[in-house]
Amino acid sequence: MEHIERDVVIVGAGATGLNAAYRLQQAGKSVIVLEARDRVGGRLWTNAIDGQMYEIGGQWVSPDQTELIGTLDELGLETYSRFREGESVYVTPSGEAKRFTGDIFPAGEHTEAEITRLIGILDELVAQTDPAAPWEHPRAKEFDHISFRAWLESESDDSEAVENISLFIADAMLTKPSHAFSLLQALLMAASAGSFSHLVDADFILDKRVVGGLQSVPLVLAERLGRDVVRLEQPVRSISWGSLGAVVRSDELEVAADHVIVAVPPNLYDRIDYLPALPRLRQQQFQHQSLGLVIKVHATYETPFWRSAGLSGTAFSPYQLVHEAYDNTNHGENRGTLVGFVSDEKADAVFRLSASERKQRILESLATYYGPEALTPAVYYESDWAAEEWTRGAYATSFDLGGLTRYGAMQLEPIGPIRFGSSDLAAEGYQHVDGALRVGKRLAHEILALDGADQ
Ligand code: FDA
Repeated sequence: MEHIERDVVIVGAGATGLNAAYRLQQAGKSVIVLEARDRVGGRLWTNAIDGQMYEIGGQWVSPDQTELIGTLDELGLETYSRFREGESVYVTPSGEAKRFTGDIFPAGEHTEAEITRLIGILDELVAQTDPAAPWEHPRAKEFDHISFRAWLESESDDSEAVENISLFIADAMLTKPSHAFSLLQALLMAASAGSFSHLVDADFILDKRVVGGLQSVPLVLAERLGRDVVRLEQPVRSISWGSLGAVVRSDELEVAADHVIVAVPPNLYDRIDYLPALPRLRQQQFQHQSLGLVIKVHATYETPFWRSAGLSGTAFSPYQLVHEAYDNTNHGENRGTLVGFVSDEKADAVFRLSASERKQRILESLATYYGPEALTPAVYYESDWAAEEWTRGAYATSFDLGGLTRYGAMQLEPIGPIRFGSSDLAAEGYQHVDGALRVGKRLAHEILALDGADQ
C-alpha cells in the first residue's frame, strides 16, 4: 500500500472533482484525485464506435450555462451550433407523423391552448422557486408531497397536454416516470435552467456542442493537473475521518489529507465505508437520491437524408418508444447522425428484449419520425449507463417524493473534513456539467476560505 499525504484528496475525476482539484491546485494546495475508472470524465465520455465519434454521455451546452461557457473559454475549447434548419416532427396518439415549426406540438387547437396554459402556470411557479433553496418556497411541503403527474392531472383533463408537459421534465430531464418525483423536484429542474419555457425550447436547451466532444473539459483539466495528480483505476473503498482530517483508501493507495471531496454521484456515496459511520440523517439522505434511466441511441447514415426532406431532425412524441430525437451530426462530417432517447419504463421494456430486437424496435420508432431510410444506419450504438458500475443510470439523481424538503438543505453541508459534491447537488445547472463545475468550484472555495487562502 503506497502512502501519500496531501492537503486535499478528491474522490472521482468527473467535472465536479476535477474542477475542484484544479481550483485548489491553482490556489497553491497539494491535491490528488482518485478515480475508479480507467479514464477521466465520468458521465462525459467521447468515444469512437466502429470509427464513428459519439458523445456517449453529456454533450449539449445552453446559453444559461455561464460557468461551463466560461470554462470552455478558459480551456481554449470551441463550440458549434446544433443543426436545426427545417421542420420538426410530432407523432400523435394515433401514430400520425405531423410536421411543425416552433415549440408547441401540433396537437389540435384545444390541446395546444392547454399546453400553453400549463407552461404559463409552471413558469410562474418556477419564478417563485430559488434553485439554491427550493425547500424555502412557501408551499414547498405541499409541492414536494404531490407527484408531478398527479399535479398535472389536477390542473388539466386534457390527457395529450398532460403527456406532453410531463415529457419535458420526466422523460427529457429527470428520466423517471412523472409519478415518481414531486412537483417541487420538477420546479427545481426548471428553475435551474432559468424557466420552464427554457426546457420546452429545444433551440435553447440543446444549443451548442463542443468541437472534439464535451469530454474535452475533464481531459484538459486532468492534463493541467498533471499525470501524478489524477490516479486512475483507484476505486475508493473507505474513508476514516476525525476532527484533524481523514485517511482515504483504495486497494493500492492510502492518502492522508486535511480535507476530502467525495465527487461521485449521490447514489454511490453509500458504496464507500465511512469510519466512523456518518450521522444518521445523512445515511438516510443518501437512500432517497436515485438515478434516472435513459438509453441514448446513436444512428449514423451515409448522408443526413432528413435534411433534404426539409426536416431539422428535431422530433418528439410521448407516444413513441423514442420520445425525442435530434440531428447530432458531428462538426465537419459528411455523414449524418441522429441521436434519440428511450427513457424510464420504456427503457425497462426494451432491455427485456434481445439486443437485435431492441435495435429493431428503436429504429422503427426513428422511422416513424424520419421515414424508412432511418431503418438502415451504417453505425448504431446504445449508451447504456445503467450497466456502468461507477454510474448506474442516466442522466442524474433526484429525490423521491418528499425527499427534497426533508434532506435537500443538508446535502452540501460538510461532515467533519468530508464534503460531498456532484452536478446532482447543484442549483443553477442542476444535473448538468455547468452545475458540476459550479459545485466543484464552490467546494474548493469553501476549503480555501477555511484555510484563509481564498483569493
Ligand atoms: P460524474 O458521474 O461525471 O463523475 C463522478 C466520477 O466518480 C466518475 O468518474 C466515477 O467513475 C467516479 N467514482 C464513482 N465512485 C467512485 C469511487 N468509489 N472511487 C473513485 N471514483 C469513483 N449534461 C449536460 O450539461 N449536457 C448534456 O447534454 C448532458 N447529457 C447527458 C447524457 C447522458 C447519457 C448522461 C449520462 C449525462 C448527461 N448530462 C448532460 C449530465 C452530465 O454528464 C453530468 O451532470 C455531469 O457530467 C456529472 O459530473 P460529476 O462530476 O458530478 O459526476
